Amino acid sequence: MPEKKAILLDCDPGHDDAVAILMALKSEKIDLRAITVVAGNQTLEKNVNNTLHVCQHMGSNVAVYAGCDRPLLKEPFHAGFVHGESGLDGVEFEPLEKTARNRHAVSFITDYLNAALEPVTVVATGPLTNIALALRLCPKIAGRIGEILLMGGSMGAGNITPAAEFNMFCDPEAADIVFRSGIPVRMVGLDVTQKAMCVPAIYERIRAHGGKACELFGDMMQYYCMMEKEVFGVEGGALHDPVTIAWLIDPEILRFEPMLVEVDRIPGPSYGRTNCDRHHLRSEPANAMVATEIDVERFWTVVEETLKKEDKS
Ligand code: RIB
Ligand code: CA
Repeated sequence: MPEKKAILLDCDPGHDDAVAILMALKSEKIDLRAITVVAGNQTLEKNVNNTLHVCQHMGSNVAVYAGCDRPLLKEPFHAGFVHGESGLDGVEFEPLEKTARNRHAVSFITDYLNAALEPVTVVATGPLTNIALALRLCPKIAGRIGEILLMGGSMGAGNITPAAEFNMFCDPEAADIVFRSGIPVRMVGLDVTQKAMCVPAIYERIRAHGGKACELFGDMMQYYCMMEKEVFGVEGGALHDPVTIAWLIDPEILRFEPMLVEVDRIPGPSYGRTNCDRHHLRSEPANAMVATEIDVERFWTVVEETLKKEDKS
């Protein structure tokens, strides 16, 4: 049995973040050490509640920490128009009993990494506010992070403005700190995640397996696909965040290229854009591995095989 990959997951659930949590909890290849939550898809409080509900639903005692409730500099911006008022609309959970730990996520991240005996993979599927603040609070943790695997950015067009992807747009200054940190960054952007389109045939097939994870997946995706169609006019919903976890489970699903990624922090039409130097036109060295291709069929196999596994007792 290969070594489990130890990860910290920083997220803003949100339907696709919730699927990423389900996969991280279910996969025998992943050791989910803790979940930290950031404002993004919805307010911090709602995102924390959604995280706790998903973990409680799965019977997981993984520690959950609440982090930053707003970006470093700009005003908070949420995506209730996609994820609903709760941030995870379309799902009925049991009354919530699980609580978040009584420590700020940023304080947890710095203490956890300083005590880590081996480098930890940090997976980020929301705005990068918590990660950036942890790096500013305790710069030496950079040496304790093996890699930052993030869903965000785009070599091409954005999805919240013509130029910017949502996670980057929510906190461009935080993203800039991460991309310029010198830490190995692996960027899984819209170029590949928008090809991971969940449609009714997929979520009905997975829901039909039964069990907590597959049934919750079906319920969440039914709502998410409906909203994505209403908002973006597309058949189905792009399952952005789980592409990061799926790559940890099966690295063959993605191809990456090294390139310089610079975050546009100038207020204006390109604010929050990730300028990706795929053709090495700039003199600066590459600071990220950027996902350029996805094996979509293999991705869905990973999602289905991971979620349908017997629920851990
Ligand atoms: O642009 C997609 C990203 O923004 C995903 O992480 C989604 O959950 C939202 O946070
Ligand atoms: Ca997210």
